[in-house]
Amino acid sequence: MLDFNNPQIWWYLTRASAMVAWVLMTMTLVWGILLTTRILRGADNPDWLKVTHRYMSGLAVVMIAIHIATLMLDEYINFGVSDVLVPFSTTFKPTPVALGIFAFYCIVAIQITALAAKWLPEKLWKGIHLTSYAAIVLVALHSGLVGTDVGTVWYTAIALILITTAMLAGIIRLVIAGRVKPAPRSAASPSDTAPRAAGSGKTAPDTFVARVVDRQNHGGDIAEFILTPVEPDLDLEWDAGAHLTLHLPDGVERQYSLAGDPAEQTTLVLGILNTHGDPAGSAWIHANLTVGDTIVCDLPRNNFKLKPAPRYQFIASGIGITPLRSMLFSLPASREWSLLYIGKNDKRMLFAEELVELFGDRVTMWKTSEKGFRPPLGEMIDPAADVYACGTASLLETIEHNVAPKKLNLERFTPKKRGTTSTGAPIEVVASRSGITTTVAEDSTILEALESSGVSINSSCLRGVCGSCEVSVLAGTPEHLDSVMSDADKDELGVMYPCVSRSLTPSITLDV
Ligand code: FES
Repeated sequence: MLDFNNPQIWWYLTRASAMVAWVLMTMTLVWGILLTTRILRGADNPDWLKVTHRYMSGLAVVMIAIHIATLMLDEYINFGVSDVLVPFSTTFKPTPVALGIFAFYCIVAIQITALAAKWLPEKLWKGIHLTSYAAIVLVALHSGLVGTDVGTVWYTAIALILITTAMLAGIIRLVIAGRVKPAPRSAASPSDTAPRAAGSGKTAPDTFVARVVDRQNHGGDIAEFILTPVEPDLDLEWDAGAHLTLHLPDGVERQYSLAGDPAEQTTLVLGILNTHGDPAGSAWIHANLTVGDTIVCDLPRNNFKLKPAPRYQFIASGIGITPLRSMLFSLPASREWSLLYIGKNDKRMLFAEELVELFGDRVTMWKTSEKGFRPPLGEMIDPAADVYACGTASLLETIEHNVAPKKLNLERFTPKKRGTTSTGAPIEVVASRSGITTTVAEDSTILEALESSGVSINSSCLRGVCGSCEVSVLAGTPEHLDSVMSDADKDELGVMYPCVSRSLTPSITLDV
């Protein structure tokens, strides 16, 4: 128990809080290095790492504040406010104390700019973050020169561990960070053009408004767009493989994969192919969406998640590179992977040059206009790797024939042709939470039947591709007729997509 009548109490507290602060600062530094070097990023569950990093740095600031306050309360040292806040103002060991004060200001600046990062230029807050290395050195010097425990066995042991850890972390940062190249960023500056809203104008809680901050055209039919939320403190969360639904005029909704680095959550990179035969979708976007425009989007969804695996093979054709690009950025540098990127020619292969530049011989480009034939996928597929593929229906069909289902992960633009095995007879659907039971006619969908009974379900593509209408199955056996993830994955998750899928059992109960 703390005895506040003991005159030594403040001195004990000031020494203890200083040591705890030093430990926390070192751990924060190590955690920060794990983040920046991507050793544990992407598929390796980054969220806990970010949260721990934030909490530890906050706690370090609290400990330093306790250290300063207890220094002023201690009657022996008798420090005033200026002694602990103004460098060189104390007569007691002025230089070592000043080193501690400089370290304190560094840490406060890092903490404030980290909290305000959303509103600050990235270069500024990241530059200030780098002063954490200087702060650790200052703290070690401050402690070694002014600490009254210097020379004791326990102090020496802890100091040696902390200094060695910080030095090793710094070396890892220098060695590994040099091998991890950041995602290239196109120039992205908001235009002065008055924003004009496109799309339905729907602003339900699961939607947000994004502004186009950059647009680059590639060879006529492909354009790269960079969007960012209009609301600066919107907490967007998405991971590699996610897509964005854009709300276009006349209630049209279109899904596009997020191609950027998931570490940059508010930089939404889209690569959009103008399919011409889809005038209400990509053609409208190509003709109308320019820098400065705003558009309503659904919060990102992910039906194509990157699962941890020792080895990956990515296969893309044409614009199918978009979800795979975000996966490449999310993987730790040490992970084994290769990319086979198939396209007609440079004009049809967005990001091709950049990917070769960033990832070198991990990337194989297959330009059919140069080769004159399609790649022999049967020979090129790596049987030891988990395969992630996105592209044309014919490519995906070939891959499906050559990869074991457990190692196969596909993202489709268009619905897969699937034959139904059910009799086509009407089925009964129970909406458990709504307390409604309804019959689905043979020429209707579960989604239509539920909506006409007053049960509202989120939906978008109505073709079994986007995953928006996902519902949990409580009883019965769904007949999966959609093209979202594998049937085994859906069964494992206990979900179905009622815009196209039906039921193999006469009755099915859904959690809606
Ligand atoms: S609405 Fe897109 S999968 Fe059902």
